Amino acid sequence: MTEYQPLQQLPEPAGYKPGDVLVLVGELFGRGYANGLVDEAKRLGMTVIGTTVGRRESNGSLRPLTHEELTEAETLLGGSIINIPLEAGFDLESVDDIPSVAEQLKKARPDDFATVSFVDGTIEKACAAGRARFRAHLARLEAELITRIPATANIHLAHSMAGGIPRARVFMPLLNRIFKGTGDKYLASETFWNSPLGHLCSVSFNEVSADTFRYLIEGTAALRARNSGSGARVCYSAYGYHGTGILVGGEYRWQSYTPYVQGFAKIRLEDIAAEATTQGIPATVYNCPEIQTNSSALFLGVEISLYPLLSAIRREAGEQIAAAVAARCQAMLNEGETVAGLLKRADDYLSSPILEQIVDFTTWPQHNTREQAELMLAASAELMAMHADQKQLICAELSRIVFLATGRLMLHSSWNPASSTLWLNHDIISRLLADDRGSNIV
Ligand SMILES: NC(=O)c1ccc[n+]([C@@H]2O[C@H](COP(=O)([O-])OP(=O)(O)OC[C@H]3O[C@@H](n4cnc5c(N)ncnc54)[C@H](O)[C@@H]3O)[C@@H](O)[C@H]2O)c1
Repeated sequence: MTEYQPLQQLPEPAGYKPGDVLVLVGELFGRGYANGLVDEAKRLGMTVIGTTVGRRESNGSLRPLTHEELTEAETLLGGSIINIPLEAGFDLESVDDIPSVAEQLKKARPDDFATVSFVDGTIEKACAAGRARFRAHLARLEAELITRIPATANIHLAHSMAGGIPRARVFMPLLNRIFKGTGDKYLASETFWNSPLGHLCSVSFNEVSADTFRYLIEGTAALRARNSGSGARVCYSAYGYHGTGILVGGEYRWQSYTPYVQGFAKIRLEDIAAEATTQGIPATVYNCPEIQTNSSALFLGVEISLYPLLSAIRREAGEQIAAAVAARCQAMLNEGETVAGLLKRADDYLSSPILEQIVDFTTWPQHNTREQAELMLAASAELMAMHADQKQLICAELSRIVFLATGRLMLHSSWNPASSTLWLNHDIISRLLADDRGSNIV
């Protein structure tokens, strides 16, 4: 099991310089975590090379980006993109005339989730086919990287992929019940996880969110050998999640969003980094805080643990920086609501004995209970309702601070990583804001 190792000191400045390269393995979206890495790499004068998941045609075939899509994606990235579709997973793979998982689930109804079955061997065969496709595309990516990157450049390969919910209509109502359901709508994540559809999700999450990191490390061995052979550094990072240390009741405490069923894949990701590190390959999983991105939108309530970042900033970065952030947040609240009131409401939830009974580091990730789900969703709704405009959320502002700060911490720390898994908690993120490298974030 991974030992809890928070990054406790700001990393020494990394030695990256113009000509060194950040390769982003995972497509960049506007508010996603990887923006922080891209931002810091550019600040250091590094070259940024992006990738794409590609797009699916209506007939299901995977294709690269069109000219317009590529231009748009490169504008967002501010760098060039290698246009080879790097979608991972296997939900649309059909092998030996066996229809794909998605096809077989077309007629499945949500109520049948516990009894759904697949043609024998479907998951194994489809998974092997998806893996082979991903690896073949990675091989083309590596060849392209070898031609584009000079042999003497330091390289940071950043993995930002996570996903794997199979593209079949049956999943959304079920996942909504697990992550957002109360009363009759509530569904125990454990019941789902132990069902055939839960098993399918487990294999798929492992493949997309964890094993792609292994394929990346293995699939860039020639690039690594060439550049490290000429004295350059080649390192790997991946975004993990395994709870976060935040201020609760005035003290830093590790806590986690529940039910993070993707957590089993995140533990597998940590194991892959540990194995690579043992083999002398610098690979680090950075466990990052809960923020709002395209990928976390499903997990209603995940944002509650972000509010106390305001208190951590006050404690670690000083009054001036804290006051600037708090003023921005106050301006987003309804008349009569205060930041102090908001923090009190978030703390009431986070310090609840119901959570304390459930959330445990050694047996993480935990499944939900009805009581916990209802408590969390009520707190989430009340905190949202304090805002004047549901499109202008304090969590969006705090998420931006977190993804920018974590990107900086990751890039510098990866130069000489202290461990194969590190937690970037609210304290170190806040401390960076008072450092030269974080001074323009707020
Ligand atoms: N949002 C959070 O609260 C949070 C917290 C800790 C860690 N993370 C991690 O940060 C990383 C980036 O996520 P984010 O939250 O910024 O969201 P995001 O939606 O911006 O990024 C998700 C990435 O996964 C890729 N992806 C999704 N399905 C894929 C597939 N089948 N094949 C290949 N790539 C696929 C997307 O293209 C995108 O690049 C993820 O590893 C995520 O687990 C997120």
